Amino acid sequence: MTSNNKMDSMIEFVSWFRSVAPYIHAFRDKIFVLGFGGEMITDAKFVHFIHDINLLASLGVRLVLVHGARPQIQLRLDESQLETQTVMGMRVTDPAALQCAKEAVGRAHHEIAALLSMGLPNSPMANAAIRVASGNFVTACPHGIIQGIDLMHTGKVRKINTQAIHSRLEQGDVTLISPLGYSPTGEIFNLTMENVATEVAIALNAEKLIFLLDTVDFRFSETDTLRTLPREFTVAESKLFLENKIPGTMPLIPDTLRSSLQSATRACEMGVTRTHLINRGNDGAILQELFTHHGIGTMISQETLQALRKAKIEDVGGILQLIEPLEAEGILVRRGRELLEIEIDRFTVLEHDGIMLGCAALYPFPEEHACELACLAIHPDYRDQGRGNHLLKHIEKKAISQGIDILFVLTTHATHWFIEHGFSETTTAELPQAKQNLYNYQRRSKVLVKYL
Ligand SMILES: CC(C)(COP(=O)(O)OP(=O)(O)OC[C@H]1O[C@@H](n2cnc3c(N)ncnc32)[C@H](O)[C@@H]1OP(=O)(O)O)[C@@H](O)C(=O)NCCC(=O)NCCS
Repeated sequence: MTSNNKMDSMIEFVSWFRSVAPYIHAFRDKIFVLGFGGEMITDAKFVHFIHDINLLASLGVRLVLVHGARPQIQLRLDESQLETQTVMGMRVTDPAALQCAKEAVGRAHHEIAALLSMGLPNSPMANAAIRVASGNFVTACPHGIIQGIDLMHTGKVRKINTQAIHSRLEQGDVTLISPLGYSPTGEIFNLTMENVATEVAIALNAEKLIFLLDTVDFRFSETDTLRTLPREFTVAESKLFLENKIPGTMPLIPDTLRSSLQSATRACEMGVTRTHLINRGNDGAILQELFTHHGIGTMISQETLQALRKAKIEDVGGILQLIEPLEAEGILVRRGRELLEIEIDRFTVLEHDGIMLGCAALYPFPEEHACELACLAIHPDYRDQGRGNHLLKHIEKKAISQGIDILFVLTTHATHWFIEHGFSETTTAELPQAKQNLYNYQRRSKVLVKYL
């Protein structure tokens, strides 16, 4: 590596590290529930996941890990030459199958606890000293009889002992929960990881519920190519998708993806702030999802995360960050913080998940029934995805609602963009008189107009 390359990567590292700071602040002391299947435990990359858990724990995230053990249970059943019945995708757990489940779940549970206890020097686990807490946190009840078949020891969550989990989390322990639950009558029930993780997240009022899955892909038909779930779903969109109510579509969703999406949607509906579905195949998948603005998985939230709204005084800092580089390049006219504070009511901002992606301002000239659109800017990382168009449409509607017929804009760099959006070039003489008096002949901005 040349010294220039080294320098570049150091600069990149420093800027990346700084960019992570807001997430670290936001996640400290928050409860994250992570659900993963037994397949993940047998994967060679599982140890990397443990390293990421260690990192999250050291950043003060309160972690609850809920693991499954489906393949391990199947292996034990095969070894014992036992066959089980399945009803509506659920395994009937008879006493012999329960014995296999207890052995397989116990083994998987201890293997995870052992990995979390590593502390080898020169590894990401050096000085980790994670304390793992487990216990009878989950009260279960039988699933009952379905289609005339008794599911026996296949159960569902009845209650979560939140007080006990909270007290472990407050002591800084990582809580590890298995898919076995206990009933007040002293029986053991075989549960699904999805059911346990969802109910734990709801009961703890968790900030996040995260499912790590083998796949987040689906098809619209047998012959369709594989598609990945959208980056974001609102609860309502997710329900439409699951109920096949999106016109013209009939998604074929793998069972585990369907049940995780159903669980994630329910958790969100019941108050968990965000739920995430992530493909576990990506190394560092959780870190990528949690510490980058766009993440890599699918995030489900109650409401859409993108909002167009009137700017508030608290937005001045964000707007300045967005427009200052464009002002420095001469693309936008310079506005100081003070002027922005005075004119903040004229601004509309486009934000996504708390990050400001764009802004625009509307200055009225009531006598001429005209408005100037100014300071339209989209963050360079988020351009070419229709956001500029979205913001412009919003501004046009706003102008029309104020009885404005004429929208004009002065631009040095985006003439063609505006022409493609229905503006046409005109002369300064067509500007309202007050604007003509302020026209800066040195900038030689093009004047464009659109009749609304
Ligand atoms: C102009 C601007 C707001 C467009 O935002 P955006 O979110 O990228 O716009 P959209 O996604 O709606 O449109 C993208 C399309 O416009 C094209 N485009 C983007 N900027 C352009 C420009 N300056 N000139 C011509 N075309 C442009 C893109 O190539 C893309 O074309 P495609 O759909 O054929 O691929 C953005 O580029 C920006 O912030 N520019 C700097 C500030 C500025 O010049 N503001 C105008 C003066 S007020």
